[in-house]
Amino acid sequence: TKQKLWGGRFTGETDPLMHQYNQSLSYDKRLYAADIQGSKAYAQALSGIGILTKEEANQIAAGLDKVGEEWKSGTFAIHPQDEDIHTANERRLTEIIGSVAGKLHTGRSRNDQVVTDVRLWLVEQTALVEGYLKDLIGVISSRAQNEIEVLMPGYTHLQPAQPIRWSHWLCSHAFSFAADLDRLRGLIPRLNKSPLGCGALAGHPFSIDRATLAKNLNFSGVIENSMNGVADRDFIVEWLMWATLTLTHMSRFAEDLIIYSTSEFGFVTASDAYSTGSSIMPQKKNPDSLELLRGKSGRIFGQMTGFLMSLKGLPSTYNKDLQEDKEPLFDCVDSMKASLQIATGVISTLNIHPEQMKKSLGMDMLATDLADYLVRKGVPFRETHHISGRCVAFAEQNKIQLSDISLEQLQQIDARFTQDVMDVWNFEASVDRRNAIGGTARSAVEEQIRTLQALL
Ligand code: ARG
Repeated sequence: TKQKLWGGRFTGETDPLMHQYNQSLSYDKRLYAADIQGSKAYAQALSGIGILTKEEANQIAAGLDKVGEEWKSGTFAIHPQDEDIHTANERRLTEIIGSVAGKLHTGRSRNDQVVTDVRLWLVEQTALVEGYLKDLIGVISSRAQNEIEVLMPGYTHLQPAQPIRWSHWLCSHAFSFAADLDRLRGLIPRLNKSPLGCGALAGHPFSIDRATLAKNLNFSGVIENSMNGVADRDFIVEWLMWATLTLTHMSRFAEDLIIYSTSEFGFVTASDAYSTGSSIMPQKKNPDSLELLRGKSGRIFGQMTGFLMSLKGLPSTYNKDLQEDKEPLFDCVDSMKASLQIATGVISTLNIHPEQMKKSLGMDMLATDLADYLVRKGVPFRETHHISGRCVAFAEQNKIQLSDISLEQLQQIDARFTQDVMDVWNFEASVDRRNAIGGTARSAVEEQIRTLQALL
């Protein structure tokens, strides 16, 4: 059997189960492009300090390109002894270009190599995810613009509270996602730093130009301490935390829509493209897309806490425990990319039922407006709240709508009611009175939509 790359001091074979337990190639092979990109830049940097001749650096670069093409075309043949993407690529490079390949790893360790690869990969993925998140905010805000006329009940404690615009509800969730977008952009400067040249832990013994190397890999700077560089996985934790919070927002958004799509509410129907049926009940149309969006948040929260537990208490610099960073991160990035695209699809194809929303608006949801009516006549709110409450009780006792109480009956409750009180019973007027910043008035919601669209 072939010797492992690190096999010089070993005489015995690795236990087969140990090899399987130890290997990460089965999942870190998705870092192949980042690994090759990192190695090419590193070869160039080595030629800059005279470790490689120009000729050797070119040979290595060409060989690495060939290895990359094999991965890309699916022809890369994994050797049973390959342990991870770094050893597999170097093994294959050696087969292609011969012993000069053995110069590539000078001054480098897999400890700085692996974390360079993960950072490179994650920077690229973050840009994709940012795009998907912007798409989501984009479809929510354009729906909000197109459906600005639609009114619905707003809830607190899931009890009908006050009339709102459907668009106001849409924007309320879009602003959570907007904060997530801001946080995602905020983590990039910490993520996009180069650990390459940190070596195993102590730094580079041949004065490599880390700053230029970082620049050539499009990093915005270098990790300042080599021990920190190989040990640090904060950027992964931060990403997992970001995803956890974003999916928590997603799950609340989905939960609202799940409730609104029940036949009891009937406000929305998920399109066929994002619904499924029941294998036994022919009438069923289930919002599985929304339930999975809600469900993913639990899973990703678990990945985040699980990896934090792996980090906790680790001694300085690299320990193999750190290999446990990849599966949760990959799962998280995959889940995020899929969830954002599914959410965008669900929202852009969702059917809404404005008539049903309107029917669910009860006159008692204007009880606050009735209290505010007297406030406008100079009555202190604490008093008007009470008076309006008595009107609500009166309507309840007489089994009539709040708006069906006659002027005479209202005046018996409080003499300050006059004919214009009848203007209170208008849902459009109610929403449009709430025109301060952030409110549900048309002008205020349109301002929110503009703010959201400016982020994209
Ligand atoms: N596959 C390893 C990981 O993912 C690469 C680094 C291995 N380094 C080492 N000293 N064994 O962390």
